Order: sequence, then structure tokens, then C-alpha cells
Amino acid sequence: MASRPPSHRKILVTSALPYANGPIHLGHLVEYIQTDIWVRFQKLRGHECHYVCADDAHGTPIMLRAQSEGITPEKLIARIGEDHRADFAEFLIGFDNYHSTHSDENRELASLIYTRLHDAGHIATRTITQAYDPVKEMFLPDRFIKGECPRCGAADQYGDSCEVCGATYSPIELKNAVSAISGAKPIEKESLHYFFKLAQFEQLLRNWTGAGHLQAEVANKLGEWFTDGLKEGDISRDAPYFGFEIPNAPGKYFYVWLDAPIGYMASFRNLCDRSGLDFDEYWKKGADTELYHFIGKDIIYFHALFWPAMLHGANFRMPTAINAHGFLTVNGQKMSKSRGTFIKARTYLDQLNPEYLRYYFAAKLSAGIDDLDLNLDDFQSRVNADLVGKVVNIASRCAGFISKRFHGVLAKTCAEPDLYDTFVRSGEEIAGLYEKREFGQAMREIMALADKANQYIDEKKPWALAKQEGMDQAVQDTCSVGLNLFRVLMTYLKPVLPRMAEQTERFLGIEPMTWVNLAEPLTDHTIRTYEPLMMRVDPSAVTAMQDASKENLEPTVTATAPSVLADNPLAPEISIDDFGKIDLRIARIVKAEHVDGADKLLHLTLDIGGETRSVFAGIKSAYKPEDLQDRLTVMVANLAPRKMKFGMSEGMVLAAGPGGKELFILNPDSGAQPGMRVK
Ligand code: MSP
Ligand code: ZN
Repeated sequence: MASRPPSHRKILVTSALPYANGPIHLGHLVEYIQTDIWVRFQKLRGHECHYVCADDAHGTPIMLRAQSEGITPEKLIARIGEDHRADFAEFLIGFDNYHSTHSDENRELASLIYTRLHDAGHIATRTITQAYDPVKEMFLPDRFIKGECPRCGAADQYGDSCEVCGATYSPIELKNAVSAISGAKPIEKESLHYFFKLAQFEQLLRNWTGAGHLQAEVANKLGEWFTDGLKEGDISRDAPYFGFEIPNAPGKYFYVWLDAPIGYMASFRNLCDRSGLDFDEYWKKGADTELYHFIGKDIIYFHALFWPAMLHGANFRMPTAINAHGFLTVNGQKMSKSRGTFIKARTYLDQLNPEYLRYYFAAKLSAGIDDLDLNLDDFQSRVNADLVGKVVNIASRCAGFISKRFHGVLAKTCAEPDLYDTFVRSGEEIAGLYEKREFGQAMREIMALADKANQYIDEKKPWALAKQEGMDQAVQDTCSVGLNLFRVLMTYLKPVLPRMAEQTERFLGIEPMTWVNLAEPLTDHTIRTYEPLMMRVDPSAVTAMQDASKENLEPTVTATAPSVLADNPLAPEISIDDFGKIDLRIARIVKAEHVDGADKLLHLTLDIGGETRSVFAGIKSAYKPEDLQDRLTVMVANLAPRKMKFGMSEGMVLAAGPGGKELFILNPDSGAQPGMRVK
């Protein structure tokens, strides 16, 4: 990087490759919008900058999802790839190339890199024991095994960690484990695996980490990993797997995280083949071009340790920097389907202008890895106040006078050269903030200038001048200054608001705006008729977006959470008439007793308003008998009596909950009377 003059930078930029097994959501967009703003900024400054991305198409979740839809993985990734491209295009993400990791270029590069690593002695093989689904006949990734936590006993936990107590463990330690795919009990099975010997690169990585390629917080995190010791990376998976077969290792496939980052190179290779760019200029060892990876903080491990080591070990250059960002929360909390805050890109686009979100994220982004919050009220007021109330307002206040009174022609000279200069000179500071990814600060600087422009217009009051005799020149001067200041602001906002900037160029009748052509103000220049550049956020559209996000709750098989329904399918459908046959009554628990020899049952005596029932209920794990005395519950009162081991059961009480201590049978004591029918 050092030897190239600063005015001729050549830059290659990537965003992380989204998995091809689900839709783009607003969390993803933090990253693609952040990267796109930075890339557009570099291009506007006159640098050569290439922005590539791709779908991450391999791995078990994609294979299983295709199976569950009854289609080939190729078909699935083609369909999802189309959706992703459309979403990105409408959010104005200006990729120079969008490819797929399931491509010829990626197959070749993955094989090349692996072979070089192998030949240089960086690959080890060893037999490991893993959980295997004997019904589905495949090895099970940790996330596809469920069972009871070995530490706290919580039911239904995944094979790698417990969501209740936070324990981490290996799936073999889970109690009563089942495969989330088939429901079968996993067996242990041996298999030969391939490993990348990361520890061989420890010194290289320590030096690299300390040399300014990483944010301070990220470098600290790496420090912890160095202290823990670098572990070998398991890079192989057994068939069946959707991915690339490892050279000279039949039946063994590259783990998705081996070929995913190579997908950055593959996408660029594909671009080179179409455009004549020189691949080696950006990837050969010692290249003096710049290479940046924008990623979320969840995937630092792969990008800041494995990837640089892989590149170096295979005789390619290492990245100039890894730019990590934090996670999106919505209204202060993790995105949630039930709250309507798991918002898909498409759901947003159905309701709202993508540039609102681009601006809002820009206003919130910094160069750090702190999480950022999309507060939907703040979103509306911020966009309305800043973009509509401050920026667009300047143009709409000035344009009408110029059009109606001066045939659309701006004044012959700039009446406020000093003010104009102040605006132009701020450009270097704003550029510095963009360069450092301090977008929030850049937006604040720009809005402070917008305040200044509005103040100027407020002081001059062109609407009052227009009513006075002989003040024509003053009106034209003021409005021309206003529109020139507006042009400067829209140039600074162009990386964030590319569409509005284009509309501005049409309205002002000018060439594409760049930092450099701001030096001279527009004088004696004809503009077009003003048309509103941006409307206020429609609050009902925000509500509609949230409602629509609650609606599309269809269960999908995803990487992290195999559907509960998949391993516990719904019972056959019943009609409303069937449902109506169930007679639910409020019952008072007259007596609750232990049952000798039963570890789950309590014996309940229930009063349903003049009739007494004896019922055995499997709720001992959740309730002590003395706590139930005299409480109200709901029972199925017309269930045929059943003979059980401990006696006759004359009905059933309704219990709900995940089990264990969380079983709820009590009806809130709200004035209900035993025997009442439950509606
Ligand atoms: N396929 C991998 C990346 C491979 S890169 C060689 C992956 N895919 S992903 O779809 O899960 O995420 C894509 C990017 O979006 C990641 O950088 C991830 O951090 C980011 N985000 C996903 N959810 C996010 C939020 N809620 N907030 C901010 N960024 C988020 O990881
Ligand atoms: Zn636990």
C-alpha cells in the first residue's frame, strides 16, 4: 500500500457472504449498507475501488433445507440468490460483482489453496469420533443434536451449549440426545478428518495483529485466543454434504468455512474475467493494492486468524484490514419474530424508502464494534428532522423563486463566497470521517452545515424580500446561495443517499457530483423545476411493516434452529366440530395427594360445581400438593374415564409449558366458579 501515491489508490472491498438458506434482514443490512457507503465514498474521491460479494452456498443447513423442500441444493441456492440480489439492488448496494461460492472459480481456487497448504505441510489428518444419525446415515453437526444439558439438566438443548445455564460441552455429553433431523438416538462413529495447522502461523499472526490491521477491540479479542492457544481447524466433512470434494480425498468435502472466504477471491476472479482487471495485482504476495473485509463481530475468528493464515500459507497477500461492526438490535432488543422486529429486507421495501434506512444506519455507525439500535420512533423523527426538515428544506425553499421569477437561472456571481468556502473546506474533514468509517460523526458535521444554510436563509427571508419593490437581485442571490449550499451537502451525502443525489443532479442540471468539482459554485446556470426529493416517513407504513413481520412467521429450517415441528410433527388436523366436542370446565382442586410408587403423578380431587372427579395428573415435577389445595384449574370434563395403574382417572387437567418446573395448570383466581364452561 505504501508505495502507491495517495491519489491513485486501488482498493478491493468485500462484505461477508450471506448464507443462501434464508432471506436478507435488516441486521445483515447494517453490514452491506456500511460497506456500500465506504465504497461509494472511495469512488467519489476518484479512487479505483472494486466491491465484490457472493452467496455462501455450501453446508449442511442448505443441504437439509433443499431436502425438506424436495428440490436440489442447486435449485435452492439459485432461487435464494435471486432474492438476495433483488433485495441488495433495491437497497442500492452497488456491488461490482455478486457471485456464488458454488462456482467454478471457487472450486478451482479452493483446490489450489488447499493443495498449496497441503504441499507446504500445513494440513494434518486424524481420526475423530463424532455423533452420527444411524437413520439419516450422516454425521450430525452440533446444532442438529438435542438433549438434556449435562450441567443443569435443562431439556431440549443443542449439542454445543445450553441456553439455560450457558454451559458449553461436546454433543457426546448431552443426556438423552436425539438427532434433530430424524429423532433417532445418535451413535458414536469414527471418521478421518483433515485439519489446518493454525498454530504453525502463530508468530506471523501475532505480528500481523499488532501491526494496525485490526480495530483495537478486535486485537484484544485475538490476544485472548493466543493465550488460550491456537487450535487446529477441522476443514473436512463427510458425505453427504453440499460442497466441494477435497482433492485426493474421495467422500471428504471442504467444510463450508474453508471455501467461504475463498469466495471473495472467486467473485473477484469472475469480475476480472469479465472486465479485464488483473487478479494478481490484488492477490499476489506483496501486492501494493489495498484489500478490506467488512464483517460482523460474530465471524472475527475466521477472518482475523484463519483467513490471513490460509492466504499467507498458500502464498497470497494478507488483508490490509478487517473492519468489524456490531450487531443490530431493534427497539433495544434482539430482533424477534414475535415482537415483529425480525424485519426482512423485502418487508421493509414493501413499505418504506431504502434511503431512510441508509441514512439512519449511517447516522448510527462508528468505526467500533458496539451494537447499534434501530429504534423505530427515533428512526422516523431522525429521518424527518434531518433529511426532510433540514436538507431537502433548503432546496424546496429556494427552488420555487428561481424557477418562477428568474426562468430557472441562478445569479451571475456567488453573493456569499465566504459561506460557500466554509462549506467546501469542511469537505476534507468530512472525507476524513468517511475514510475512518466514523459515519455518525460525518452525518453530524453535514447536519451542522445544513443548520447553517437554513439559518442563512432564515436571516435573508427571501419570501419577505420577494414582496418588496426592487429586491429582485437579493432574492435571486439568496436562493442561488441556498441552492449552491444544498449542492455541497448533497455531494457529501451522496455515498449514503445515491438515489437522492442522482435526483439532485437532474434537478440542478449538473454532471455527477464529486468532491473535486465543488470548488466553483454554480453561477448563471439553469436548473430544472423542483420536484420533492424525499417525503416524510409515513408512520402507518412503519406499523404496517411491523405487522407484516409478525405475520410471516412460517417455520423454516435454519442453520441455527432446526424447527421444533420437524422433530415433533403436528397431530392430524381436526375440525371445529371436533374441537367443540371438548367440554372444558373450571375445577376447584379440593385435594391433592402424592401417589405411592409414582414419580410423576399427583392424585387430584376436583370439584366441578356439584360433581367430584378423581384425576391423576403428571405434574409432580412442577407442584407440591399443598400448593394446589383450593386453587382453580381447567379440566376436560367429558373425557371417558380411563383405568390407570393407580386407579380410575375421570378426566384430565390442562397443563401447558415446556416441562419440568415449567408446567402451568392453575387458572388465575379471577372470580371463576367451579363448573363454569371455559370459552
Ligand atoms: N456466511 C457467513 C459469512 C461468510 S464470509 C466468508 C455468515 N453469513 S450470515 O448470513 O450469517 O451473515 C452475513 C453477515 O451479516 C455477517 O457479517 C454477519 O455478522 C452479519 N449479520 C448478521 N446478522 C446481523 C445483525 N443482526 N446485525 C449486524 N450484522 C449482522 O456469517
Ligand atoms: Zn444447562
